[in-house]
Amino acid sequence: ALQFHRCDHLRLSGLTHINSPRSHIGIGTSNDVDISHLTIIAPDESPNTDGINVANSTYVYIHDSKIGTGDDCIALSTGSSNVRIAKIACGPGHGISVGSLGEDGAYAAVENVYVRDCSFNGTQNGARIKTWPGGSGYARNITFENITLTATKNPIIIDQQYCNGAHDCAKQSKAVLVSNVRFTGFRGTCGNEEAIKLDCNRISGCQNIELVKINITSTVPSKKVYASCNNAKGNSGSTVPTVSCLKYPTRPFI
Ligand SMILES: *[C@@H]1O[C@H](CO)[C@@H](O)[C@H](O)[C@H]1NC(C)=O
Ligand SMILES: *[C@@H]1O[C@H](CO)[C@@H](O)[C@H](O)[C@H]1NC(C)=O
Ligand SMILES: *[C@@H]1O[C@H](CO)[C@@H](O)[C@H](O)[C@H]1NC(C)=O
Ligand SMILES: *[C@@H]1O[C@H](CO)[C@@H](O)[C@H](O)[C@H]1NC(C)=O
Ligand SMILES: *[C@@H]1O[C@H](CO)[C@@H](O)[C@H](O)[C@H]1NC(C)=O
Repeated sequence: ALQFHRCDHLRLSGLTHINSPRSHIGIGTSNDVDISHLTIIAPDESPNTDGINVANSTYVYIHDSKIGTGDDCIALSTGSSNVRIAKIACGPGHGISVGSLGEDGAYAAVENVYVRDCSFNGTQNGARIKTWPGGSGYARNITFENITLTATKNPIIIDQQYCNGAHDCAKQSKAVLVSNVRFTGFRGTCGNEEAIKLDCNRISGCQNIELVKINITSTVPSKKVYASCNNAKGNSGSTVPTVSCLKYPTRPFI
């Protein structure tokens, strides 16, 4: 509904956006962007109604906003770097996502992302990174910190094997590299049994993934939640549920 292209020093604040036909707001090829105090509203079941899409942009700060849509609250696409996101109340929606990256063999690069002090209420995902098999490039140096969850279906998810529609993903031998990703200070409830999903591909895996100070429990008090892990390498400490493929470090976390 509202697209900014080559808009350096953009300041956007205080608006309410309701029921866009597709994405509500797009930021492309812009540097030094500050977005705050927005309210974005669309129904849970409205397809492709992303809240804010960022692509090819640097030094972007998105904060103090309430976003509820039928798709990602915020999605960071290729060329996004030095992005800070803080105090976003997300829900309903598909969470805050890096990606999807590398569709149809594309090169994609996202780095230096810091998401903090956000809440996810009734969302399909919380913190998510998704890349297509066959792509190249990287998603690296990404932190999610101090995240509150309320009945979030997939609170923590790295999906390096993201594939949907008519794509021959099984044959691909390349991947967008995922490295230096930190999830810390997550607490609250999960609507699925699989609270943490690290699904990395067998070719490159995901490197230096760190989970610290996580406590995710089921919305149903008697139920347990679990973490699943494919080809992810890194460390974890003080994490419930435990993540079997990550090492418990010998040195303390800072
Ligand atoms: C980002 O820039 C690249 C290269 O100029 C372009 O091909 C791509 O379409 C842009 N992506 C988006 C989502 O705007
Ligand atoms: C990682 O990202 C953070 C947050 O954007 C940034 O401050 C830091 O300098 C980056 N680190 C490296 C090694 O690039
Ligand atoms: C954690 O995030 C919440 C907002 O979700 C904020 O109110 C709180 O101050 C943050 N805590 C810390 C230690 O920064
Ligand atoms: C979550 O959303 C529901 C439905 O909108 C609302 O009733 C509830 O108060 C919210 N919970 C929190 C913790 O924000
Ligand atoms: C995790 O959170 C639950 C629910 O708030 C609490 O009962 C439990 O003691 C916490 N566990 C840890 C290890 O902090």
